[in-house]
Amino acid sequence: MFTDEDDRFIASTKSEIDEVIENSLRPTTLNEYVGQKKIKDSLSIYIQAAKSRKEALDHVLLFGPPGLGKTTLSHIIANELGAQLKVTSGPAIEHAADLAAILTNLGRNDVLFIDEIHRLSRAVEEVLYPAMEDFALDFVVGKGPAAKSIRLKIQPFTLIGATTRAGMLTGPLRDRFGVLGRLELYEPEELSEILRRSANILDIDLTPEAGLLIAKSSRGTPRIANRFLKRIRDYAEVKGTGKIDADITQKALKMMEVDELGLDFVDHRLLTTIIDKFNGGPVGLDTLSAATGEESTTIEEAYEPYLIQMGFIARTNKGRVAMPRAYEHLGKKLEPNKEKQLKEFSKDKNSL
Ligand SMILES: Nc1ncnc2c1ncn2[C@@H]1O[C@H](COP(=O)(O)OP(=O)(O)OP(=O)(O)O)[C@@H](O)[C@H]1O
Ligand SMILES: [Mg+2]
Repeated sequence: MFTDEDDRFIASTKSEIDEVIENSLRPTTLNEYVGQKKIKDSLSIYIQAAKSRKEALDHVLLFGPPGLGKTTLSHIIANELGAQLKVTSGPAIEHAADLAAILTNLGRNDVLFIDEIHRLSRAVEEVLYPAMEDFALDFVVGKGPAAKSIRLKIQPFTLIGATTRAGMLTGPLRDRFGVLGRLELYEPEELSEILRRSANILDIDLTPEAGLLIAKSSRGTPRIANRFLKRIRDYAEVKGTGKIDADITQKALKMMEVDELGLDFVDHRLLTTIIDKFNGGPVGLDTLSAATGEESTTIEEAYEPYLIQMGFIARTNKGRVAMPRAYEHLGKKLEPNKEKQLKEFSKDKNSL
């Protein structure tokens, strides 16, 4: 289906062009990986410990919105461990036997990366449980009363699962991960550093002011920052000398209809819908989805995290509400009684 998400410069999901750019810009060591200090610090200890004991690292679950560096980090972990990496994804493993084949082919202390792990079928997931826990596969041989269960040992390995939707993982699967890493949206300073690094690799002349402007418009997401950098370079080459400065950056962002806080037409539509059609909310996710024509999962995973982080909307137990900052940013008037109601919601939210 064609959605606005395909059309957006600031989509955080990946396109084919991104694939090419991303491979050239992916950091390969923990040191080069910018930000996410909490996960990085703990991972570096666990990796060192596993290496010195010559054991497999505990299973790692990485979760968080698209484009924040889950795939990148999983490659880095394998690299830092000096381990072989096998990459697959939830939808790619159709049958239990496919997974069993992958697992029996792993070498000692190898890393298996399963992207979109929330999309594994139940039958496939059942194969993972004994594999993760005891490094074993259980088979049932024969039928009826003569059926026997056989256990086959496999090599110790590390499973790294990545998902944008940790909430969709079954409890038993989640419980089998020893290390849980939630990736957070990046601060503008961190994105500036990522942009500096990318500009170096791509041999782009980027001024620090321009870097910060791009960072601030990138919704806390490295994938978006790198994509902007490429698009603004095109603009700078055609309309200027190729150098990316603050002036060129502002003009290019304007052409892409992205405002200085990284909001585009979809964000504007979401916010104005909540404010104008639903009197500022609260409005349920499905209702909002119907009113804007955006899929509710897309709203929840791609648009909302940033709008919430920026304080434009809040999630309450009654639905989404537009916060005073959204009114201010869109130049809309906030009625005093609405403002009072929003204060109540803020209290409400804190008690959730
Ligand atoms: N911490 C970081 N430091 C430097 N670059 C980063 C970092 N995180 C991500 N990137 C850049 O952003 C791009 C996107 O990251 P990545 O593909 O790992 O995201 P993801 O979380 O796996 O996204 P998805 O959920 O869509 O699979 C990478 O190619 C990399 O260039
Ligand atoms: Mg990924």
